[in-house]
Amino acid sequence: MIPANSRQGPSLIVALDYPDADAALAMSARLDPALCRLKVGKELFIAAGPDLVRALSGLGFEVFLDLKFHDIPNTVAGAVRAAAALGVWMVNVHASGGRRMMQAAREALGSPGPGVPLLTAVTVLTSMDAADLAETGVSDPLEKQVLRLAALSVESGLDGLVCSAREVTAIRESLGAAPVLVTPGIRPAGSDSGDQRRTVGPREAMEAGSDFLVIGRPVTAAPDPAAAVLSILSEMSYRNLP
Ligand code: C5P
Repeated sequence: MIPANSRQGPSLIVALDYPDADAALAMSARLDPALCRLKVGKELFIAAGPDLVRALSGLGFEVFLDLKFHDIPNTVAGAVRAAAALGVWMVNVHASGGRRMMQAAREALGSPGPGVPLLTAVTVLTSMDAADLAETGVSDPLEKQVLRLAALSVESGLDGLVCSAREVTAIRESLGAAPVLVTPGIRPAGSDSGDQRRTVGPREAMEAGSDFLVIGRPVTAAPDPAAAVLSILSEMSYRNLP
């Protein structure tokens, strides 16, 4: 069972999709850790590494390390252990790595609790459609595969899932309120959808049952990122406003 306080703190996670530490630190200086968390993905982590994660944490931000581990159980266990030692708030894996891989990650982190990063899984990448899935040998409908991997993740002891806001309702119906749901692909009113297709608005995503929204360019490309955060929080109309 995840701790009751795992949903506390800002529900907005700003994706720092930058090629280097300088750009990421410049953006983080314009943001407030009381109002948002930060996501560090593969490009930034490979370029700037653990020192950047420590620097962001030192500024007071909680960091979602979005490296989507998918490897043999022993390797993934070592990777999440290293992430926990870095002090990240959330780390994730690919559910398609299977039950033993996810259980190994859970065991490496220990039981959910204070100081233990939330452990989430990606089910089917939202960039994939039914034809892509079929090419990998999965002929079931995409939603069925998402729900199958979501259930497997929860059974394997994970705290939650990274999923499309369009999948949230079905996941809540099948797995209930317990899993923490993290949703990217969100576009506030009036913002450019960029390369995202099938976007969902912040309030719509929260009302569907998302716990955390991942939003990148609508904040990072805004002329005033701090104002964009406040506007998104008010659109979410949630518990995050001071
Ligand atoms: O700029 P934007 O809001 O589109 O950024 C969304 C972030 O969420 C990016 O870091 C992107 O890689 C990530 N993401 C996504 N869709 C997924 C999973 C992750 O957009 N299904």
